[in-house]
Amino acid sequence: MKIAVIGKGGREQALVETLAASPCQPQIFSFPGSDAIFQTAQPIPAQGMDDLISWMVEHEIDLCVAGEESYLVKGEGLANRCAAAGIPCWGPRKESAQLEASKEFAKNFLMRHHIPTGKAVAVESAEAARAAIAGQFPTVLKFDGLAAGKGVAVCPDAASAEAFLDEVFAQKRFGEGRLLVEEFLTGPEISIFAAVCDDQYLILCPARDYKRLQDGDEGPNTGGMGAVASRFLTDADTLRTIENSIVAPTVAGLQKDGLPYRGFLYFGLMLTPQGPKVIEYNCRFGDPECEAVMPLLRGDLAGFCLAGAKGEFRPELITFQEGWSVCCILASAGYPATSHSGDLISGLEQCRARVFHCGTRKEQDHWVSAGGRVLAIVATGPSLDAARQAAHAEAAKVDFPGSQRRSDIAYKNM
Ligand code: AMP
Ligand code: GLY
Repeated sequence: MKIAVIGKGGREQALVETLAASPCQPQIFSFPGSDAIFQTAQPIPAQGMDDLISWMVEHEIDLCVAGEESYLVKGEGLANRCAAAGIPCWGPRKESAQLEASKEFAKNFLMRHHIPTGKAVAVESAEAARAAIAGQFPTVLKFDGLAAGKGVAVCPDAASAEAFLDEVFAQKRFGEGRLLVEEFLTGPEISIFAAVCDDQYLILCPARDYKRLQDGDEGPNTGGMGAVASRFLTDADTLRTIENSIVAPTVAGLQKDGLPYRGFLYFGLMLTPQGPKVIEYNCRFGDPECEAVMPLLRGDLAGFCLAGAKGEFRPELITFQEGWSVCCILASAGYPATSHSGDLISGLEQCRARVFHCGTRKEQDHWVSAGGRVLAIVATGPSLDAARQAAHAEAAKVDFPGSQRRSDIAYKNM
């Protein structure tokens, strides 16, 4: 089997390595990939989407796996292009990926299908936003487009709201787009992943990510500074409520709205005092949750995704180990406002944990940073304690100038 994995981060490296470990020993290719990914996968020498599709057809790729969201909504959409070219794709079509690409689309979907979520209003200007906020703080402001996890501000007061409104409407930091003013919800967060194949789904191992930059959930939102995964992260009752009130109605809603879906679907949830509510959908695996979840997966991910991409639901092909998995991110100096590249990474040889590269480059025989999030250090263990102690101890062995790492991943909010 020949598989093309699309993306370049730690999530894609975790997918590549897990797919490669499938019993059929698939040949893996990647675009755009990274030096770290190319240790396992072969590079696809394409320039852009047209080229990528032609290359996959020419090289008889059996399965395209979408890692990163941007390709799903770029141009005509990766899955749409694959469908037209006859390549099975694990990842939804552009029209369905609007669940992630547009927060307003997602909010309307949630309301239409009576799926629990915070109340929200969409606005087009800073003045309209102020009117919608109506002096109620905290408030949550969400830019209505893809912003790599950085388009959301939880504002405790008017000053922070004004600063974000300025970024969105005056500086246009995220480009053109509307803004959602959303009700502030409270409670622990959890990331639930489903593998969706038309009207069927399999709920995978749950995870929790840590979105704020600093210990204690302080500092700005990031793409994610770490994650913990285990099927014991939620109790069976909560998981049942999540399935019945959120996952099943979402899959049914997609069918009802004529939105085809084959791929991973990520539910960002808050377990509020009134029950679980959706704070966001993502149309792909989470990053860094994927780096934490994949090491727990057993079975045949390649077979599962290929069958699913062809419309055949084969949940028996994968299972998740009972233990715990903890992922600590090392981010570069200045992240998330800026990122710093070219810093020499030390200690990788001493590190006994799994290392996935989020943003690195190989220069001669050493690795240097090349992005905001740089490395994901992942350890698994039979207990939460074993996994988190190992993850932090191994992450502490790796360093580069200006590196940022949270020391409370899998401790805080547990
Ligand atoms: P999102 O990109 O929508 O997942 O938002 C990023 C983060 O902002 C979430 O993980 C939450 O920590 C926080 N957040 C988003 N929506 C809300 C909300 N309605 N109430 C409180 N916090 C929120
Ligand atoms: N970990 C958050 C995300 O993947 O969007």
